[in-house]
Amino acid sequence: METLIPTINRLQEVFQTVGTEIIQLPQIVVVGTQSSGKSSVLESLVGRDFLPRGSGIVTRRPLVLQLVNVAPKQERLKNEHGNGLKQNTQNSYPGIKAEEWGTFLHCKNQIFTDFVEIRKEIEAETERTSGDNKGITSEPIYLKIFSPKVLNLTLVDLPGIIKVPVGDQPENIEAQVQEMILSFISNPNSLILAVSPANSDLATSDALKLAREVDPDGRRTLLVVSKLDLMDAGTDALEVLLGRVIPVRLGIIGVVNRSQHDINTQKSLEDSIKDEQVFLQRHYPSLVSRAGSRYLAKTLSKLLMHHIRDCLPDLKTRVTVLMAQYQARLNSYGQPVEDHSATLLQIVTKFASDYCNTIEGTARHIQTSELCGGARICY
Ligand code: GDP
Ligand code: NA
Ligand code: MG
Repeated sequence: METLIPTINRLQEVFQTVGTEIIQLPQIVVVGTQSSGKSSVLESLVGRDFLPRGSGIVTRRPLVLQLVNVAPKQERLKNEHGNGLKQNTQNSYPGIKAEEWGTFLHCKNQIFTDFVEIRKEIEAETERTSGDNKGITSEPIYLKIFSPKVLNLTLVDLPGIIKVPVGDQPENIEAQVQEMILSFISNPNSLILAVSPANSDLATSDALKLAREVDPDGRRTLLVVSKLDLMDAGTDALEVLLGRVIPVRLGIIGVVNRSQHDINTQKSLEDSIKDEQVFLQRHYPSLVSRAGSRYLAKTLSKLLMHHIRDCLPDLKTRVTVLMAQYQARLNSYGQPVEDHSATLLQIVTKFASDYCNTIEGTARHIQTSELCGGARICY
């Protein structure tokens, strides 16, 4: 997703200048049965270890994870010490010496630079509201991750679909969790990542079933088939991955995440992605370029890119209107005067016209790049 960052940052600047809301990228929501691998999939998308994962019920509250792109540390510190002229308030976080960090809505003013601590805080906060005996609450935990390596994007990790109550869970746990999931995925601006493990029948996929309830045409549902490595000997997921069992409009992507043993032995995300590639090469050679965590990230980028492209015409109209307004005011000053506000207007007008070019450039870039083929989300 990193390739999208410069484009989005540049556009974000335009939005700030013309004073409209920033582009609202779709939020990405993971849905699936318990232990299907939802938290693992999200983690591989973010590229950092920080979500609690494991067998049984681990995710017991929705986690709304807002990724915030910030300038690299070097640049931020330079701005802090420099004359401050070019300081971009959006991208300056005075006093923070870390490259990447996190904050929680419920821990005001506390900065987490250690991702292990972030995971511990998610666990502690889950226990605070949901107890320590498998209870579930629908009240989300809000976490922001600041990093030069992320897109401005919101991801939502949800508890899994459960059939039978355990521990302190109420009798109607299944209905409760379903309702919670539906409240997130019915938002038309969410992209649904339906996660189904390869070792259970796709026809019984609760993830797809729920996704279809809110997205019957499949315009914003992507199917992720996890646990390709755990299929019975002699079976494979080829038919499923090719869409011959159940077609999914935006695509079906097979992945191999870290096993529980990998988690226990602290296998790194990097090694996991390498091994995933080796696995795919051996078992699904014909699909190697269309499967895996990296391809999933790429596909999501593509879908986001299409979304941005769809927002551009409106943005351009706004900038053009703004430019005309400034030009008119500028003209009303008549002959050049030693007026500071006039100079300021000239600068802004110049800015606006530069921005128009940026928008056109971006539109052209998206139009001509290979990102244009294939799937697109419709809103
Ligand atoms: P969630 O409950 O849906 O969020 O699932 P988690 O991400 O917590 O994963 C549940 C368990 O399945 C963990 O022990 C993971 O290590 C394991 N797991 C997830 N994906 C895979 C996979 O692709 N292959 C294997 N072998 N294990 C996986
Ligand atoms: Na789990
Ligand atoms: Mg989970």
